[in-house]
Amino acid sequence: MSRPPVHYSDYLQLEKILDAQHPESDKEKVEAHDEMLFIIIHQAYELWFKQILHEIDSMAAIMGKPVVNDNSPELQTVVHRMERVVTILKVLVHQIDILETMTPLDFLDFRDLLRPASGFQSWQFKITEAKLGLKFQHRYGQEYYVSQLRPEQVKLIKDIEQQPTLLELVNKWLERMPFFEDDTLWKNYKKHFPEEDGQHIFWSDFKNIYASTLVDGEKSNLAHFYEMFSDNAEGTRELSPKACRSALFIMLYRGYPMLQTPYRLLNNLLEVDEQLSTWRFRHVNMVHRMIGSRTGTGGSTGKEYLKNAMDKHYIFKEVSALTSFLIERRKLPHLSQEMDKRLGFHH
Ligand code: HEM
Repeated sequence: MSRPPVHYSDYLQLEKILDAQHPESDKEKVEAHDEMLFIIIHQAYELWFKQILHEIDSMAAIMGKPVVNDNSPELQTVVHRMERVVTILKVLVHQIDILETMTPLDFLDFRDLLRPASGFQSWQFKITEAKLGLKFQHRYGQEYYVSQLRPEQVKLIKDIEQQPTLLELVNKWLERMPFFEDDTLWKNYKKHFPEEDGQHIFWSDFKNIYASTLVDGEKSNLAHFYEMFSDNAEGTRELSPKACRSALFIMLYRGYPMLQTPYRLLNNLLEVDEQLSTWRFRHVNMVHRMIGSRTGTGGSTGKEYLKNAMDKHYIFKEVSALTSFLIERRKLPHLSQEMDKRLGFHH
């Protein structure tokens, strides 16, 4: 049986989409030309949020498998989709330019008609943050972060907060990296410093080399080194010491073919954070310009809330913190021939 021809309008459900802009000012018979722009720009954001969630779900499905073969198309797919998310976020940052063609007076024409609606009620935005890895306990403004939502939206967010986040899945994936467990890879490694108690020869060496690169004002970094990379360190970090060791190793030796895709994955997490925080920065400046120090229509303190959320809601900050522990490439310990081969194309 032949399929009926697909029509552009039906395929895209344009009737629904193009009939979904109903300015409050029209209903109230008030003149507010810019409300159409305000509605469309928010709708465009929400559509892109939907796409981002679609990508995150597919990445989580791959990363959640008991074994992700780093030498297979799977990891490549994750990286590719993460790059797409970053590209979408860049567009979302730039969309603010369009909205900023609206002046504060244009906005005042209809602002009061919107109360108490606000971007604060964007459950897709909150879900995106939660799926990536922003934990409830790390949120700023916990008292009211779901206060403006409908009960079914709150339930949705609370359920999602119980699921493994992308950050947790990345942590597990890093923990599974086999670099330091396979003794054959280290048998012929030439150590530079005496081995320290209970530490892998590589990390004894690395710590000593790292210590020698610190200038006077940075000596306290050694304590942080211990906190992040030592199994005995206590703490409630999102990335375990084992995962941190794998991640740092990937960053240091990213020139090896086997580590290139893992490196791109880590780098893209940082890009996501950077774009999200750039969006927050642009948004808060736009808010300041539009409404000064007035409170938000969503009931938060407005600019003050947004600034604090911007500072506090970096999701992958533990990954970016690793860069404090990089050393110059020429000082890197030489790996054994076995490891060299293992990380190359042929092994
Ligand atoms: C005239 C333009 C805008 C103004 C004055 C504005 C104002 C605000 C304010 C004051 C808040 C804090 C919550 C509250 O009390 O309402 C907020 C939150 C938020 N807005 Fe906007 N906004 C604007 C445009 C947008 C656009 C175009 C989006 C795109 C989706 C957006 C998305 C959000 C989101 C997601 C939040 C929650 C952020 C968080 O909890 O970290 N806003 N907005």
